[in-house]
Amino acid sequence: MERSLTMEIVRVTEAAALKSARWMGRGKKDEADDAATSAMRAVFDTIPMQGTVVIGEGEMDEAPMLYIGEKLGTGEGPRVDVAVDPLEGTNIVAQGTWNALAVIAIADHKKLLHAPDMYMQKLAVGPQAVGKVDINASTLENLLAVAKAKGKNIEDVVAVLLDRPRHERLIEEIRQAGARIKLIPDGDVAAAMNTAFDDTGVDILFGIGGAPEGVLSAVALKCLGGEIQGKLIPSNDEERDRCKKMGITDFDKALTMEDICGGDDAIFAATGVTDGELLKGVQFKGQKATTQTVVMRAKSGTVRFIDGEHSLQKKPNLVIKP
Ligand code: FBP
Repeated sequence: MERSLTMEIVRVTEAAALKSARWMGRGKKDEADDAATSAMRAVFDTIPMQGTVVIGEGEMDEAPMLYIGEKLGTGEGPRVDVAVDPLEGTNIVAQGTWNALAVIAIADHKKLLHAPDMYMQKLAVGPQAVGKVDINASTLENLLAVAKAKGKNIEDVVAVLLDRPRHERLIEEIRQAGARIKLIPDGDVAAAMNTAFDDTGVDILFGIGGAPEGVLSAVALKCLGGEIQGKLIPSNDEERDRCKKMGITDFDKALTMEDICGGDDAIFAATGVTDGELLKGVQFKGQKATTQTVVMRAKSGTVRFIDGEHSLQKKPNLVIKP
C-alpha cells in the first residue's frame, strides 16, 4: 500500500466532519449522516487508488453512495479495500454530545472482514493487555487480566460499554468484580480506540455493538498495537446466511485480529465531529473552521494527530448551510 494514502485520506475524513458538524445539536441525524456521506464520496474521487467499498452505507440497492462494492478513487494506484463510516454516531451529532467521528480504514485487497450490518460481541484492549484477555473467559477473568497487565488494582480499572438494556448482566458482573464503568450512549469505535490511550481513562471495552464498527475498531487497534476480539451475532436466517456466505458457519467462533483485519498493513483515519476524549470536534470560528484528526498506519506504527484550520472564505463548499 502507498504510504502517501495515509495523508490523502485525512482530507476525506476532514470533509465529512466539516459538513456533518453543521448539523450538530439540530436533532436531525439523517441529515447529518447524508452530509458526511456526500462530502466523503466527493473527496474520494481525488484519491489515487483503486478502492472497493467493503464496509459502507449499505447494499447497492439501499444506499445511493458509498455502498458495498462501489469503486472509489481515481482508478490508478494501489488496489485496496475500503471501510467507511462517514458519520459514526449519528445520534451523537443530532444531540450534540460526545465522540462522533468521521472514519475510514483502508487495507490491502481481501484483508478486511466483510462484516455485514449486524451485531458483534466485542472485547477490546490497548497494547499492554494484548494476548492477556479472551472473549471466551469470564468478565472477572478479563478484568483481572487487564488490571495485572496495566499494574492496577481492579478497583482502578475502567470498562467502557454502550448503555443498552442488553448489557444489564454484564454491567452487574463488572460492578461485582469491583471495576468501574463508563456507560456511553453511542460511538463504540471511539471507545475501542480510547482503550489504547492512557489519558482517555478507559482500559477495556466490553459488549455488543455494530459489526461494521467492530472492523473499523480492529483497524484502529491494529495500528495502535492493541487488540479486539469479536463474535458475530446474527439475529435471523438472513443474517445467518450472510455470515455463511462470508465463510463463517460457527457463530460462536471468536474472531481474532487476523480474522478481522489480516496482513501486516492497514491505515486508519478519524476526524472528530463532536468533542471526545481523544479528538476535538469541529469548531466554526467566523471564516475559519478547525478539525482534529488521528491518522495512523499499521506497518510503521506511526500515529499522527493533525490539526486542520480551514478557510471557509477560500473553500466555501467545505460547509453547508443547514
Ligand atoms: P450510528 O452512527 O449508525 O448511529 O451508530 C452508532 C453506534 O452507537 C455504534 O457506535 C455502535 O456500534 C452501534 O451504534 C450500536 O448499535 P445500537 O444503537 O443498535 O445498539
